[in-house]
Amino acid sequence: MMNMHQDSVSLGSYEQMAEYYFSDVDNKPYNAYYERPATLSLLPDAAGKTILDAGCAAGWYTGWLLEQGAAEVTAVDFSPAMIEMTRKRVGERARLVCADLNEPLDFIRDDSTDIVVSSLALHYLKDWNPVLREFYRVLKPDGTLVFSVHHPFMDFTVFKRENYFLTELLDDEWDTATGPVQVQFYRRPLGSIISSLLEAGFTLDAMLEPMPTEDFRKALPESYDKLTRRPQFLFIRARKSAK
Ligand SMILES: C[S@@+](CC[C@H](N)C(=O)[O-])C[C@H]1O[C@@H](n2cnc3c(N)ncnc32)[C@H](O)[C@@H]1O
Repeated sequence: MMNMHQDSVSLGSYEQMAEYYFSDVDNKPYNAYYERPATLSLLPDAAGKTILDAGCAAGWYTGWLLEQGAAEVTAVDFSPAMIEMTRKRVGERARLVCADLNEPLDFIRDDSTDIVVSSLALHYLKDWNPVLREFYRVLKPDGTLVFSVHHPFMDFTVFKRENYFLTELLDDEWDTATGPVQVQFYRRPLGSIISSLLEAGFTLDAMLEPMPTEDFRKALPESYDKLTRRPQFLFIRARKSAK
């Protein structure tokens, strides 16, 4: 039985969206032509590496990393249905663990992992200090963390918030192929993102606010124009300094 943390949100939403993620999200322009090109541009070469995919959803990154020749991929998600979708994609080629990222990742040894990748998952966590400490613990010295999250500016403006400096829970409704789904996530200021990373011991290596790609423009011209003026996601690469 998985340990669920009191601050965990949106488990029911992702249980509901697992089939949709498996069948649709690979090709959704925001994922395929905006989020992934930026995250992939920050990832080190995966061949021969031991990798944690934290918040794997239906396993796109897990599958891609295995195709690149990763030696071992551990894919973690708190949604059992998402873990089953990742299994459908990669079978037993990855180690699949249903676990809450708010809880200790005690199924992964200290200093054992070359790369942690976490795409669009950390904004579901209220307190980043425990999870970043865990990412730091499992990484080898000189290991790399790459993650993407909702851009703090985007959530502040789109949700018309009053106080930028708060960390607060937001409610949203997503249109999916199978109908509307209620989703909750946390918004936090950029300063809090950076200080959690530094407090965990990471060195900030790169930060991206990318432009949408040409493929994105072809797929969604109006949203392309918006993304050239307003960032949607924030991308960070950080390193565990060698002792
Ligand atoms: C937007 S999806 C991630 C997309 C995925 N990385 C991809 O690129 O296809 C967010 C994922 O994070 C997972 N998640 C959210 N909160 C979590 C938590 N506290 N622990 C583990 N997984 C969580 C959700 O179940 C969902 O699968």
